[in-house]
Amino acid sequence: MIKYKNIKNAHIKSDLIYRDLYETSIKDSDLFWKKISNRVDWFMKPKKISDVDFKTAKIKWFQDGQINASYNCLDRHINNGYGDKVALIWEGNNPDHDKKFTYKQLLCEVSKFANVLKSHNIKKGDRVCIYMQMIPELTIAMLACARIGAIHSIVFGAFSSDSLRDRINDLNCKVVITQDSGVRGTKIDIPMKCNVDKVIKNSECVQKVFVVKRTDFKIHMKNQFDFWWHKEMNCASNICEPEIMNSEDPLFILYTSGSTGTPKGVLHTTGGYIVYSSYTHEIIFDYQPDDIYWCTADIGWITGHSYIVYGPLSNRATTVMYEGVPNYPDFGRFWQIIQKHKVNIFYTAPTALRALMKEGNAYVEKWDRSSLKLLGSVGETIKKPEWEWYYKIVGEEKCPIVDTWWQTETGGILISPLAATTKLKPGSATKPFFGINPVILNEKGEEIKENPAEGLLAIKNSWPGQMRTVYGNHDRFFDTYFSQFSGYYFTGDGAKRDKDGYYWITGRVDDVLNVSGHRLGTAEIEGAIGQYKDVAEAAIVGFPHEIKGEGIYAYVTLMTGIKPNLKIEEGIINKVREVIGPHANIDKIQFSIGLPKTRSGKIMRRILRKIAHNKLNDLGDISTLADPTIVEQLIKYRK
Ligand code: PRX
Repeated sequence: MIKYKNIKNAHIKSDLIYRDLYETSIKDSDLFWKKISNRVDWFMKPKKISDVDFKTAKIKWFQDGQINASYNCLDRHINNGYGDKVALIWEGNNPDHDKKFTYKQLLCEVSKFANVLKSHNIKKGDRVCIYMQMIPELTIAMLACARIGAIHSIVFGAFSSDSLRDRINDLNCKVVITQDSGVRGTKIDIPMKCNVDKVIKNSECVQKVFVVKRTDFKIHMKNQFDFWWHKEMNCASNICEPEIMNSEDPLFILYTSGSTGTPKGVLHTTGGYIVYSSYTHEIIFDYQPDDIYWCTADIGWITGHSYIVYGPLSNRATTVMYEGVPNYPDFGRFWQIIQKHKVNIFYTAPTALRALMKEGNAYVEKWDRSSLKLLGSVGETIKKPEWEWYYKIVGEEKCPIVDTWWQTETGGILISPLAATTKLKPGSATKPFFGINPVILNEKGEEIKENPAEGLLAIKNSWPGQMRTVYGNHDRFFDTYFSQFSGYYFTGDGAKRDKDGYYWITGRVDDVLNVSGHRLGTAEIEGAIGQYKDVAEAAIVGFPHEIKGEGIYAYVTLMTGIKPNLKIEEGIINKVREVIGPHANIDKIQFSIGLPKTRSGKIMRRILRKIAHNKLNDLGDISTLADPTIVEQLIKYRK
């Protein structure tokens, strides 16, 4: 068992307490969540706790409660006498650049921007697109939307203008909030406003753009259309009453990739989400009142929503937000920030650990990490080498690692160790959190009850942080998550459960890739490749990648008469980066005369995956292929 510094004050002190509470949480879920819901402030306390039917994908929590997320993240702490506590530490791209906001100061900024939005006629229920890098105004804009009941839709700052356009149009956003340009590492001119300009030139919905001045990058501001953030803020009042929201009113929409079609607008509502993100943040990170907490994710992803902003701030935490990258000015930057701000809890992704690990220990050891008490991991399985390095070198064998499994759809962590009580096994996300009932299903949808078990990971019950629908398409919500195995939420992941009941995530079982912790649909990438003029057809699979976890392997067939060459290869790679964003970077392209298809024309990805993984002796049955000779070709020219 790992020694844990905070064992005496830990929220969950023993395995017995965990097991008792877990049992209660499953047996009488409503009673359990009723108690937990008291951790937040309601304008009207809910009497109804859950109203859930997985057969129709109808999910409601605390439906007669009234609440405001921004009030819970700000006002109530000030009312309780903590206005001068630091809420947000912003660490800029350059090591000498930081800013701190107390709860009072943050409320002041949030209220002002909420008033700006109101003065531009943004109301409850309107969708607001936020396209920014990691600057404080991003957090302020989110909470301002929450304050007035506008639904924010944050688009990760690395997405291209094409991806931005699709997301804006899908929601009919009236407003976009952005910055002049973005700063990350050595890049100082990431064209944020320019990308927005490309989108809204022909937009039928966007009426106004608010622009934060982050750099001196020259941009074009159009009269009556573009508004400087600082100018608007100058004349805004710093008092804005929070809108009274029903618990089930939407809080935000966040797009995520699925196995088919365009990315889905995952919709989260207010009451359940804030209860769940706040509770999981406190218990899983064992957050204590004076802790400095840092999650390195980007707020453009769910991890940033739940565990940089809503979870920590609703718990009156001091949360760190970092603008830059792990390797700027050098590979020691994370550890320098830990020393500088005396970070106690550090939450990052295995892909970042792998990239830093390979640069050697000196970058870590140069900085004082004695403030650390707990380390966290998210986004993919943390494998043994990076787990050991994180534990031994970063944490000096003093900090437990919480390997947290969850998804955009789940709103918060569902499976994770608890710092003081769970015996850790590197690579396992260990045990379910309170109120979560995971099961392993076989292909027929039957529960495998005995241990060990291996199969598909599903959840048998609902929890308050669960997504409620796919924006504008409830049928898609039902079809994606509830139709395959009736009565269960299907996660899309495979998992094993060992003899001790520990869960080991084995990865996606659908056509979704996890590249450096970023979720990408194969269909999306194939669609982008298809936009390159010489391409007839493409198929994407993942393959093991040393740093990214999973790399992108593309099989491409060109139009008749076109010969593959370096220019076309580069053209395809650039096309995908242009259509999706630079995080969708193809690692390998194999040109082929055809793809392995069944006689009915379905691409047999299983075979493509095996070839990309170099498992050539294990191709399985290829007798159903329309043209088996294609496989020989593919093997011969494997990259
Ligand atoms: O495959 C699982 C993997 O990431 C997927 C969810 O991706 P996304 O919605 O982008 O959210 C990522 C951050 C919460 C899951 O279906 N995943 C996430 N955490 C883990 C993980 N795989 C293994 N271990 C984890 N701890």
